[in-house]
Amino acid sequence: MKTEPQDPQSALKSLLPIFALVKQYKWMALSALLALLLTAGVSLSLGQGVKMVIDQGFIAGSAEQLSQTILMLVAMISLLAIGTFVRFYLMSWLGERVSADLRKAVFEKIIYLHPSYFEENRSGELMSRLTTDTTLLQSIVGSSFSMALRSALTLVGGLFMLLLTSFKLTLLVLASVPIVLIPMFIFGRKVKKLAVSSQDAIADIGTYAGEIIQNIKVVQSYTHEAQEQGAFSGEVEKAFNVAKQRIKQRSYLIAAVIFLTFASISIMLWVGGMDVLEGNMSGGELGAFVFYAIMVAMSMATIAEVYGELQRAAGAASRLLDLLKVESAIVDPDQPMSLLAQDVMNQPVISFNNVSFCYPSRPDVPALKNINLAIYRGQTVALVGHSGAGKTTLFELLQRFYDPLSGRIEFSGCNITDISLTTLRESMGMVSQHPVLFSSDVWHNIKYGKPQASEADIKNAATQAHANEFIDQLPQGYASFLGEQGVRLSGGQKQRIAIARAILKNPDILLLDEATSALDAESEFHVQAALKTVMQNRTTLIIAHRLATVVHADLIVVMEQGEIIATGTHTGLLESSSVYKRLCELQFDKANKN
Ligand SMILES: Nc1ncnc2c1ncn2[C@@H]1O[C@H](COP(=O)(O)OP(=O)(O)OP(=O)(O)O)[C@@H](O)[C@H]1O
Ligand SMILES: [Mg+2]
Repeated sequence: MKTEPQDPQSALKSLLPIFALVKQYKWMALSALLALLLTAGVSLSLGQGVKMVIDQGFIAGSAEQLSQTILMLVAMISLLAIGTFVRFYLMSWLGERVSADLRKAVFEKIIYLHPSYFEENRSGELMSRLTTDTTLLQSIVGSSFSMALRSALTLVGGLFMLLLTSFKLTLLVLASVPIVLIPMFIFGRKVKKLAVSSQDAIADIGTYAGEIIQNIKVVQSYTHEAQEQGAFSGEVEKAFNVAKQRIKQRSYLIAAVIFLTFASISIMLWVGGMDVLEGNMSGGELGAFVFYAIMVAMSMATIAEVYGELQRAAGAASRLLDLLKVESAIVDPDQPMSLLAQDVMNQPVISFNNVSFCYPSRPDVPALKNINLAIYRGQTVALVGHSGAGKTTLFELLQRFYDPLSGRIEFSGCNITDISLTTLRESMGMVSQHPVLFSSDVWHNIKYGKPQASEADIKNAATQAHANEFIDQLPQGYASFLGEQGVRLSGGQKQRIAIARAILKNPDILLLDEATSALDAESEFHVQAALKTVMQNRTTLIIAHRLATVVHADLIVVMEQGEIIATGTHTGLLESSSVYKRLCELQFDKANKN
């Protein structure tokens, strides 16, 4: 999801929608703007104060007048302090608020996206959208924007005051403006381009480190620490080199702007000093003039700096907005059909009709070819076949993680694309091939199946999944923290928690993908017994390599290379399918050797 750098104008345009987010806090924003106007106004009038202090205090030699003007100066400065407090607080508040809103919006978008999106876009990149990019925008809304606005105001106001003081000197200032702006455009463009690749490089680092940390045991077991270290430092150096180029361009920019502005000021001072010496100007006027000239110079420098930052943020904004614009490929129908409470007798509850499918990342290799299969309510259907045959894919299509390329899948007589995703998925309970646990305690992980479940329900489900016993032995029982992705449990324990979760959900259709593969013979026996009760009066699809567990299924479906090559019962298939027979022979052979 890399975004090409755009030209500066459209880049800044891409920030506009971000400011649209500020709209809902318009009172905050208006008050901040008012405070900003006030502070800019006060800063500008400070120059007049300086002039009065010099002309009426020092030059007139009156102590009383000096005290008065100083008092006035203090009053103005107090006003400036109060205004700055309000402006800073409100602007920063807005920045934080907008980035919080953006984070929520991005996450809300991501969580509903079709799963294949995550095969094409790496999680580290998405993570950096949520954190780095939103933080960048927070600094834009919260500080850079207000700095730019304040500087623009003082720039215009300062120029105006200069004009009032001396027309000739102001012409000099105006002549120097384009000289300062030129480097801003030349270097700003480069900074923007480099900023985008810099952020991409940072995202790469995150992805890389995330993967290594997650698989730390594999890395150490293969003693790949040194290689991984080398590869990682390669990524880091790549990011550093891009950043180095970016800061070099920015340093040039800042240095050029500072030199050019202060050089012009020096020239003005010289010209102005001549005027005072000739008596065309008072000392206070020159003082005020210098004050305003410095103010104008600082404003310009700030604008130059902020401009670079705006460019950087524009990259972040356009990437965030791109992400917010992605449409999920799997969406609810406009008018979802409601399922009949009771299906018509003799009508399959699930049917695959001529379903073919390729994974989006592998469009040339069909994962499923012409699948036709009817499953009736209450049946236990087993899917068997070699690894890679397409068994798990069938489950994924049934839950509509992907839509078939051709053909249709029906649930209770409705095409699943006509049913709301919630209805469809609520009817199904899945125990996946690799049980997935969240970094939380046992309660949370089982309760995931049914958030409103009571403690008794949860314990009951755990007991049915034969998980109760080991959970009770954990240090804090059901409140034990299981570690990230459940690392503190054994494979079989994780599986039983996942089974308990599905049992708690109490779905119409149970989908078990190798649900008992990680269990020892004893636990498997118990879980099989548990599943048997759970499977009663429930439609169950079960994928299993261990054929002993599927011998009693009502229907066994043999798959090979994305196709159904035979269906029938155990005894029937032993006769009719050579592939099934071979699978059985291999298993019994293995069993005999054990
Ligand atoms: N996300 C994916 N993107 C691209 N191809 C995929 C994806 N998931 C699976 N495949 C491919 O689709 C084919 C079917 O995979 P599937 O996971 O359905 O096999 P399976 O029958 O469940 O195998 P196993 O018994 O090993 O679990 C395989 O060739 C696999 O490489
Ligand atoms: Mg599988």
